Amino acid sequence: MIYDYLIIGCGVAGLNTARYIPKNKKVLVLCKKSPWQCNTFFAQGGIATAKNKDDINLYIADILEAGVHQNNTQAVEILSSHSIKVIDDLIQDGMKFDTNPDGSLAFTNEAAHSKSRVLHADGDATGRNLHMFLLNECKHDIIDNSIVVDILLQDGICYGVELLQNKKIKRVFAHNTILASGGVGSIYKFHTNSTTISGDIQGICVEKNIKLKDMHLMQFHPTVYVEQQTAQKQLLTEALRGEGAIVVDENGYAFLKDYHKNAELAPRDIVSRAIFDHIKKTKSKIYLDMSSFSKDEFEKRFPNIYHNFLKLGYKIPFDKVPISPAFHYSMGGIKVDNNSLVANTKNLFAVGEVACTGVHGANRLASNSLLEGLVFSHLAVEKSLNNRFKIDINKLNIKQKEYKLQIPSDKKIKEQLRNLMWKTVGIIRNADELKETSIKIDQMLSNDIGRLLYLRLLTASAIVKEAINNTSSIGAHYLQKDKK
Ligand code: SIN
Repeated sequence: MIYDYLIIGCGVAGLNTARYIPKNKKVLVLCKKSPWQCNTFFAQGGIATAKNKDDINLYIADILEAGVHQNNTQAVEILSSHSIKVIDDLIQDGMKFDTNPDGSLAFTNEAAHSKSRVLHADGDATGRNLHMFLLNECKHDIIDNSIVVDILLQDGICYGVELLQNKKIKRVFAHNTILASGGVGSIYKFHTNSTTISGDIQGICVEKNIKLKDMHLMQFHPTVYVEQQTAQKQLLTEALRGEGAIVVDENGYAFLKDYHKNAELAPRDIVSRAIFDHIKKTKSKIYLDMSSFSKDEFEKRFPNIYHNFLKLGYKIPFDKVPISPAFHYSMGGIKVDNNSLVANTKNLFAVGEVACTGVHGANRLASNSLLEGLVFSHLAVEKSLNNRFKIDINKLNIKQKEYKLQIPSDKKIKEQLRNLMWKTVGIIRNADELKETSIKIDQMLSNDIGRLLYLRLLTASAIVKEAINNTSSIGAHYLQKDKK
């Protein structure tokens, strides 16, 4: 059987692709574990959008400013100008965003936006609500526990993927393949991502010579509670700072104003670096102080954070919560054009965090990731419907391989990799350390290892190599002369 569309990933990018594909097409959506194990499900703050036609240019200016003007300007224009339509479509189809008492949409502010233009749902559960909505809308088959181990790419034509399901290697064929598998979170020791997100597909791209772009541009969210033992750490949404929370040291000093005129609302890369620097200089612990909220106000506006932290022993908004920056989002990914088509291919698309349109430049503006998934999935579907590309399966000449997915010794190497990436390819980097890290990753790659670790290491290696090749500090890529 040949599907019309094969979608890899069940977050906003994958599910919204499925939503726009006509119902008469044969579509299969695959997810690595359960559909809920994706980054969309955990997104708190919201979805940014131009508020109206008059706001499109200002929104563009904000995205470029946060991205240090390293963005693909056309992609930014597309994102801003399409935002109003994709949000209207969602609302027309029944997605509920939070509203003001008069019924108008409630917008919040987040860092580096020059006005409040971030929509949210159920307070701080925007991603979860959007995800539930898109899952309910999905009229196509979704199969869980499907781990993609190879992309069947030959002469620029993608025939589908090879995957592991029920311990068996299988091939799934499709006329159009859409990669929507997310970023690289599990490569880092501290991260906010779903634990299924580990850069496997980017690793396959390295192996297959599918072009990656901007892999050195990794975003670190400034306000993450990293003290719990779980691999995925608890985010404290930027909307908190947008609505009055402040970052303080253990003396209660709000130091961000010393680093940027917009203090709490400076671009994310600047806030993360400021926290890092202040810790280095003062050895102080850093906290998020949310005492500007009343208890009732907080519980109503941020119910999930309120209850999650109560379980962890914090009475918010009265207790300050210790925070640290942690890996959050990969601006780099598979190089695609403005219609999400993967460079040098005919029928392979990549959408969302796995892709790099260049829309985010060197630092993503807050709450632009869900919107990116919505806008560029729509364009991918339009482009593929116009292309009407059909594969001829008889031309496929790639032999099926056997894989050892994981072996017991992988665990230790994965742990070493996570520590190494956090320490040397994190918020502040050093050229010599990056070179040492690259050598260490090559050594790890030379071990007898399972396929998934192998792919993760290839992705890590691509990140480090691009970091080495980019010798100037810009946006999220910050180099310092001395070793830390
Ligand atoms: C947040 O809620 O702070 C995260 C939003 C984002 O990643 O843009």
